[in-house]
Amino acid sequence: QANERESMYVVSEFAKDYFHKTLLNSEPGKAIGLTYFKERGFSEETIGKFQLGYSPDTWDAFTSEAIRKGYKLEYLEKTGLSIVKEEKQFDRFKGRVMFPIQSLSGRVLGFGGRILTNEKKAAKYLNSPESDIYHKSKVLYGIHHAKQSIAKEDNCFLVEGYTDVIQMNQLGIENVVSSSGTALTPEQIRLINRLTPNITVLFDGDAAGQRASIRGIDLILEQGMNVKVCSFPEGEDPDSFSRKHTLTEVEDFLKENAKDFIQYKASLLVKEAQGDPVKKAGLVRDMVESIAKIPDVIKREIYVQECARIMDITENVLFNTLAQIRNKGN
Ligand code: CTP
Ligand code: MN
Ligand code: MN
Ligand code: MN
Ligand code: MN
Repeated sequence: QANERESMYVVSEFAKDYFHKTLLNSEPGKAIGLTYFKERGFSEETIGKFQLGYSPDTWDAFTSEAIRKGYKLEYLEKTGLSIVKEEKQFDRFKGRVMFPIQSLSGRVLGFGGRILTNEKKAAKYLNSPESDIYHKSKVLYGIHHAKQSIAKEDNCFLVEGYTDVIQMNQLGIENVVSSSGTALTPEQIRLINRLTPNITVLFDGDAAGQRASIRGIDLILEQGMNVKVCSFPEGEDPDSFSRKHTLTEVEDFLKENAKDFIQYKASLLVKEAQGDPVKKAGLVRDMVESIAKIPDVIKREIYVQECARIMDITENVLFNTLAQIRNKGN
């Protein structure tokens, strides 16, 4: 229903302004939220650009203010901003710093809220629930600010988290979006494909990041797009890495370390197989399985040649394997 969705957009826009003003103007907002963002190295300009906010640490300050301003509880509940329980209303994001999630055109669809302490009592990030305006599988955090730069650079950096997008933007790299911790989806990739066919995956330098990048590669190839992968040093993510280096250093690092997917997979082999022939065979098959996802026959041929060269295997064997895999898939 178009009217309902419109009301949900309007209340989300109000919430974004409320959280942002609370961050900048209220005493707890300044003492807790703003201090937190400044300690993370975010400038006032960056905080303004991404409209970061703070949700007061009370049961219902936001919800009461919204109702006082005439917003209907129905839409506060439908967007998940408020929780209604036994006739009482509560703020979903109480005591969290807020990251508004915007559509390509800049409409506020939902929020991510981060706890400030590192205690493990609650989830680090709490996100808006699925709703008629927020479908997390179709959204990319940062896309609104990134779209021009993605088209201009003809490349999109794909990162895991909100703060990775923000820190890279602050450094001067704007063609970056985040899947926000969810497994990458075909819809998200197609959204990027409207702007460029080239994606460089920058996932966290940990085991979870590596697994996620491997899954991401095949999805991107299936869409007929080109994918590179850049690994970060153990324990670093694009946020922490960008904080420690200058723009030129980060740009150079990305240029030197962004590997074509086939080289990236080969580099994993060196680490994992260590010359073990059984493991090498497994990885070659794995590489051919990725190649099999590429819709374009010429690109497939080029990658088979590349794979044969890197892995020191005859092209014939690889073409046979490729044919087997593709026949099974049909
Ligand atoms: N995420 C989430 N819920 C969690 C943990 C993570 O939704 N409980 C999402 C967030 O979008 C987060 C992303 O997954 O930004 C990546 O997770 P992680 O690397 O753990 O967080 P960072 O983005 O590095 O966050 P921070 O630097 O604030 O710790
Ligand atoms: Mn819908
Ligand atoms: Mn991580
Ligand atoms: Mn991270
Ligand atoms: Mn981080």
